[in-house]
Amino acid sequence: MGQIIQFTGLSGAGKTTLSAALLTWGQTHDISIKLIDGDVYRQTLCKDLGFSKADRLENIARLGAYAATIAADYDFVIIAAINPYEEGRTKLKQLYNAALVWLRCDIDTLINRDPKGLYKKALLPDDHPEKIHNLTGLNDTFDTPLSPDLIIDTGHTNANEALAAAVDFLNQRLHRQGPATDSPFPI
Ligand code: ADX
Repeated sequence: MGQIIQFTGLSGAGKTTLSAALLTWGQTHDISIKLIDGDVYRQTLCKDLGFSKADRLENIARLGAYAATIAADYDFVIIAAINPYEEGRTKLKQLYNAALVWLRCDIDTLINRDPKGLYKKALLPDDHPEKIHNLTGLNDTFDTPLSPDLIIDTGHTNANEALAAAVDFLNQRLHRQGPATDSPFPI
């Protein structure tokens, strides 16, 4: 049975970049990884959802449920979404034993990077027509993860270091899994 890994982190913290690097690593090491990227699924499965608290919780709940239906086919299913609420993260952990990886990055670095121009728009004056009023980390909630299984500080590590930390983590989880000796129905 594959393991579900949920990422959490602000826009621009490196979730998609790290995921892409992990997929490449998986391909070269015979580890099958499926990526469920929040941005991508917001075009399809979660197309009807916006960015209210209720919608963001529904978003992560759907991604978790989908991950669970395909987990048996992979070694890992990675959910890469902002995933800003502790409530949503806890649910995924309870329901699917989904480990939590926090891609932490300080807001000044994110404002400098701003690959999508979202921070710039969130910092516009209140009456500006293009202002984003609910950008996570600036003017919308990001609950500090209380018990992440791994923290990668992408403001202070380069892409290779971040990948090495994530690979180390996945390897540990693969080896920890071992044979299913704790099955309640031994065969
Ligand atoms: S989540 O909060 O529900 O987990 P998700 O990861 O699916 O978010 O989607 C975040 C993406 O939506 C960002 O990468 C960004 O491109 C886009 N986006 C648009 N508006 C916002 C907003 N107000 N807050 C955060 N992300 C936004």
